[in-house]
Amino acid sequence: MIKAPEHIRSIKPYSPGKPVEELERELGITGSVKLASNENPVGPSPRAVKAMRESAGSLNRYPDGGCYYLREALSAKLRVRPGELIFGNGSNEIIELAVRTFLNPGDEVISAHPSFVVYSTIVQAAGGGNIIIPLRDMRHDLEAMASAITDRTKIIFIANPNNPTGTINTQAEMDSFMKKVPRNVLVVIDEAYYEYVTAADYADSMKYLRQGRALLVLRTFSKIYGLAGLRIGYGISRAEITAEMNKVRQPFNVNSPAQKAAAAALADTGHIEKTKRINERGKKYLYKELSKLKIDYVPTEANFIYMIFRKNTAGRLYNALLKEGVIVRPVGPSEIRVTIGLPGENKKFIEALRKVIPA
Ligand SMILES: Cc1ncc(COP(=O)(O)O)c(C=O)c1O
Repeated sequence: MIKAPEHIRSIKPYSPGKPVEELERELGITGSVKLASNENPVGPSPRAVKAMRESAGSLNRYPDGGCYYLREALSAKLRVRPGELIFGNGSNEIIELAVRTFLNPGDEVISAHPSFVVYSTIVQAAGGGNIIIPLRDMRHDLEAMASAITDRTKIIFIANPNNPTGTINTQAEMDSFMKKVPRNVLVVIDEAYYEYVTAADYADSMKYLRQGRALLVLRTFSKIYGLAGLRIGYGISRAEITAEMNKVRQPFNVNSPAQKAAAAALADTGHIEKTKRINERGKKYLYKELSKLKIDYVPTEANFIYMIFRKNTAGRLYNALLKEGVIVRPVGPSEIRVTIGLPGENKKFIEALRKVIPA
């Protein structure tokens, strides 16, 4: 039988959040809620849905490989040149493109733990070496990450806000980190939850781009823009960097309904504001209820909350919550990540939690 190379066989498969339909089919229940994948619980912007529907009549055509209209709109909004943007089938694809474009086998990539696991999986698949630096106080330990740089370091991944902890690194921390990073190392700052951040000292990563640093900022339409199902995200970088990545990119990697919907969602600022308000309200409610239940949590700058339970109970709690029709995400032996949902979903989660945690 054909065998994959050892670096592929040893990859731990990514386990996505369980779909609602699957849970309901398995347990024969209805009315369950999914708070496992940090999606926008409000739904997509109605303007995005309309734009997507209108694009359906042209599905016989290949999409615009250059994402012209979306590129123009984003370039105006972000005040960057069109060539400084690159689009992907989700920001996941941009992570993959960066690794495939810049990594030689044997090169090292630094990332954090716990953080978004896709970084290390993609690096491993490309034959690179992962240098994993534990978080300190639930946040990226940028000092330790800078100290881990060697001659073999090619890329450093920083999720800001971090998934699963919802924490941020500040401007002062990033400034001091960037001073220590050599100019031939690509720093990828993954800002999938950028739009949710309220902290005043959140780092403005675009500043380092303006300084001409080797930087790639990742954003997505999957989170606040509510288009996770369409798979569209983008990167902002120097034109020399996007030009190399474009050579590796499949020519029609972003489908046409996604391009149309993303452009409409971008313009629907009312939908974004509404989503932010609902998230803030849900956050306050969950903080209050978790405190009442004496459950430790990490204050979040995103649309999910990292909760810490009694030692080694996360798996058991996850299963018990499933039986109550609530899908969350176990992210460690004692830790669970819960997406902030609509008021009724948050309430259902708290009620289920009250039922399943030992008094
Ligand atoms: C930190 C982070 N980056 C990237 C992504 C992937 O987003 P996309 O749907 O754009 O591929 C996620 C999704 O969960 C995430 O949490």
